[in-house]
Amino acid sequence: LWTTANIIDENIRLVREKVGSDEVVLGLSGGVDSSVVAALLHKAIGTQLTCVFVDTGLLRYREGDQVMAMFAEHMGVKVIRVDAEERFLSALAGVTDPEKKRKIIGGLFIDIFDEESSKLTNAKWLAQGTIYPDVIESAGAKTGKAHLIKSHHNVGGLPENMKLGLVEPLRELFKDEVRVMGVELGLPPEMVYRHPFPGPGLGVRILGEVKKEYADLLRLADHIFIEELRKHDLYDKTSQAFAVFLPVKSVGVTGDGRRYDYVIALRAVETIDFMTARWAHLPYELLDLLSRRIINEIRGVSRVVYDISGKPPATIEWE
Ligand code: XMP
Repeated sequence: LWTTANIIDENIRLVREKVGSDEVVLGLSGGVDSSVVAALLHKAIGTQLTCVFVDTGLLRYREGDQVMAMFAEHMGVKVIRVDAEERFLSALAGVTDPEKKRKIIGGLFIDIFDEESSKLTNAKWLAQGTIYPDVIESAGAKTGKAHLIKSHHNVGGLPENMKLGLVEPLRELFKDEVRVMGVELGLPPEMVYRHPFPGPGLGVRILGEVKKEYADLLRLADHIFIEELRKHDLYDKTSQAFAVFLPVKSVGVTGDGRRYDYVIALRAVETIDFMTARWAHLPYELLDLLSRRIINEIRGVSRVVYDISGKPPATIEWE
C-alpha cells in the first residue's frame, strides 16, 4: 500500500542501502524540495548528512536565520551556512540586464557551493531535490538553484576530485506528493506550502541594478505583504504574492513635509500551472492597509502600486 509513510520508509531503506556509511552533501536552499530531502536524509542517515546553505543576501526577510533555526537548531541537521551577500552584491554591481543577473547569480551560487562542498573531503554523494517535473522538463526551462546544481553536475562541472554519486530521493514524485511527504516528516506546513520563490531570489525583484539598500527595503515591504495576506487568510488562496522594488523616485507628502522616495509594486496571482495567471482581486481594504503600512513603516518608500496585469501578456515576475 502506497501511503506516504510507506514511501518515506521505502526511501529511507533505499538511501541507506545506496550510501552505506558514506557521507552525503546537500545544497539546502530553504525551498520545499531541498528541505524535504534534508528532512528525509536526516532521518535516514543522521550525521552522515551535511547541508551547505548559501545565503546569497537575496533571500526574504530573516529567511537565512529561519533556515538555520529550523534545520540546525530545531532538527539537529549539520548545516554549513555561507554568508555570501557581499560576493553576490559585488558580482551584480552595475548589472541591469535580467538574464545577465540570472546568469551571474546562478554561476556564483554554483561556485560557492562547489568551494564549500569540496572542503567536505569525505563526501561521496551529492543529494539533490530533483522532482519528477524536473526530470521531464530538464533543459531549456527556467532554472532554480537546485536545478542549477543539477545541470552543472550533469555537464561534469563539479571538481574532478569530488566524483560524487547522485542521491535523488524525490525523483519520482510530483510537487504535491513532496509537500505531503514534508509534512509527514515533521516540517511545518507553512514552510511546506510556501509560495514558489525564484532561484535568483530578490535579484529579479529589484528592477535593474541590485543594491543592498534596495534589497533591505524590498524585504521589509514583502514581509508586510505576506504577513497581512496570512492574517487575512488569503495567503493560501493566492498562488504567488510578493513585492517588487522599482528604482524610481516619486514625490510624497507626510506630516513633516515632502519626501522623494522609491516605489514598491505588489504582485499577487492566482494560477494552476504558472504558465497563465490572473491577478488576484484582493479586497480594496487590504490594499489600502498594505499601502499605509508599507509607506508609514518603511523609510525610503513613498508610493505603493498594485500590479493588475495578467499572464499573458505580462509574466508573473517583473524581470
Ligand atoms: P514568470 O515570471 O516567467 O514566472 O511568469 C513563472 C514562475 O517561474 C518563477 N520564476 C523563476 N524560478 N528561476 C526560478 O527558479 C528563475 O529565474 C525564475 N523566473 C521566474 C516565477 O517566480 C513563477 O513562479
